Amino acid sequence: MFPENRNRRLRKNSAIRAMAQENRLHPSDFIVPLFFMEGENKKEEIASMPGYFRYTLDLLVGEVKECYNLGIRSALLFAKVDDSLKDNEGKEAINPNGLMQRAIKKLKAEVPNMYLMSDIALDPYSINGHDGIVDGQEILNDETIEVLAEMALSHAQAGVDMVAPSDMMDGRIGAIREKLENEGYTDVGIMSYSVKYASSFYGPFRDALDSAPGFGDKKTYQMNPANSSEAMAEVDNDIDEGADIVMVKPGMPYLDMVKQISKQFDVPVSVYQVSGEYAMIKAASEKGWLDHDNTMMESLIGFKRAGAKLIASYFAKEASKLLNNE
Ligand code: PBG
Repeated sequence: MFPENRNRRLRKNSAIRAMAQENRLHPSDFIVPLFFMEGENKKEEIASMPGYFRYTLDLLVGEVKECYNLGIRSALLFAKVDDSLKDNEGKEAINPNGLMQRAIKKLKAEVPNMYLMSDIALDPYSINGHDGIVDGQEILNDETIEVLAEMALSHAQAGVDMVAPSDMMDGRIGAIREKLENEGYTDVGIMSYSVKYASSFYGPFRDALDSAPGFGDKKTYQMNPANSSEAMAEVDNDIDEGADIVMVKPGMPYLDMVKQISKQFDVPVSVYQVSGEYAMIKAASEKGWLDHDNTMMESLIGFKRAGAKLIASYFAKEASKLLNNE
């Protein structure tokens, strides 16, 4: 009781604040998402993601080395596929010589210690911009997960460390795990986007990969933003089916889910601070309305406080630079 308990004593100066600090960020907490495209010696800025680029594979190598040298240990790979290669079944997704497969091989050869994760979903390969095979207005589940399992296998054959299914089809973790086990890729991990909401915060990402849905929305497979109990069922299923890490996405609007899941389950929880969250902080700070670095770091420490073990964020590199200079 006051005056015996004065909570401000532990905030008196920077030394005691550092001693009393409950959570800390480290570059190895981050997963850096990376976009790449065909061509040579080119990088293109994504209009709605200032300071973020799509790279050709030759330049991607340098970017990954830079991230590794900053202390980041994991990259999440996204390929921008030429329109001419898109179809309804995502055939290009399982091409052993596709852009993703070549990226994995090249990065594993040139930056072998970077832990590589690859996106598993059909949307960048789909003429419809949907994460699954389309029949009329319907997104087919069971037909899609067969392709996703083949896609995961082809990434494993190229040398990926972990696959990251982001599609939200039912049963895909089990299908992928079974395929990897049967083919001898027993040490390839699965980070499941277990709790992925049908969110409006993905807009800039869909610009980055030119993957916006051609019709309708993703509400028949991604989760309703109003729900939380359903998230527990999703995580439960994915762990049963063989997921090593479970993810919540987006980040800031769903910190309650990060907390609940990390309390209730024992596997590591990751969180994805998505493109729209990045764009908001960039836009407001460009206008001088928010302080860029402080807002960025505050948004990131919130994920640790909520219980996230890993943070996928477009700020990975900028935040790591700041952390290294502290
Ligand atoms: C697609 C996928 C999306 C993101 C990651 N994988 C977009 C979507 O579901 O439409 C979003 C990432 C971001 O916004 O940063 N399977």
